[in-house]
Amino acid sequence: MPATIIDGKAVAASIREDAAARAAEYREKFGRAPGLAVVIVGDDPASRVYVNNKKKACAGCDIYSEEHALPATTTEDELLDLVRRLNADPKIDGVLVQLPLPNHISEDKVIEAISPSKDVDGFHPINVGSLMVGKPALRPCTPAGIMELIHRTGIELKGKRAVVVGRSNIVGKPVSIMLLAEHATVTICHSRTEDLPSVCREADVLVVAVGRPKMVKGDWIKPGAVVIDVGTNRVGGKKLVGDVDFDEAVEVAGAITPVPGGVGPMTIAMLMKNCVEAAFAARS
Ligand code: GUN
Repeated sequence: MPATIIDGKAVAASIREDAAARAAEYREKFGRAPGLAVVIVGDDPASRVYVNNKKKACAGCDIYSEEHALPATTTEDELLDLVRRLNADPKIDGVLVQLPLPNHISEDKVIEAISPSKDVDGFHPINVGSLMVGKPALRPCTPAGIMELIHRTGIELKGKRAVVVGRSNIVGKPVSIMLLAEHATVTICHSRTEDLPSVCREADVLVVAVGRPKMVKGDWIKPGAVVIDVGTNRVGGKKLVGDVDFDEAVEVAGAITPVPGGVGPMTIAMLMKNCVEAAFAARS
């Protein structure tokens, strides 16, 4: 029997609805909407699309948003100044600086300049550290979205084998810690892992975030496994394909995310949730 397709679009819509309800509650209580500042430097077309989508999602959740679009020639000091002003701005509960930044600006310095309580991306080392030691904190959006999708399959993670392919700071490492926190036995794989297919075949939950189109084949998957495909690879100009060979994997897995329409929509939905929760946390 083919796998259940995990409908990330529908789950994301329900999370955005919850965020909208919480935003309304916040407005009722405090007389203003939660606020997100989105900063974009330069004119990377992909970043422009992401930023537009974030602003649109805010409008749909009744979250106030403002965009700060800076030229590619902006200096690091100018950007750090803006971040500090946004940290101090009482209308703003979340500060998001779209990555990548131009090469002459240190991403680390900019991330570290964002107030941890307004770091809705969950990238600040304070928030990363809190995640690592199991303290409540703003959690990075894509890994938090992945966990939400896994939960909604109904799988009990305790004692299960989870394999994460990819060790990025944005997805692979944090999702591994989140799986571990829920008592999965976690293996993190990467480009130098030996015999990757046989490690993947041990997984009850397989999360793939490497950016290589259709790398994971059907015979890498344990029958019945939950497969989460984080890849968004553009091939042949336009078509989006995941890191998993969907047509093969869907015949073996128990549940699988499609690309597009799986993990992708979850990232912005979790950002909305983080904005509202950051706003409430600032008042408590
Ligand atoms: N660039 C690609 N993904 C992200 C993200 O989740 N947050 C930010 N700030 N930049 C990104």
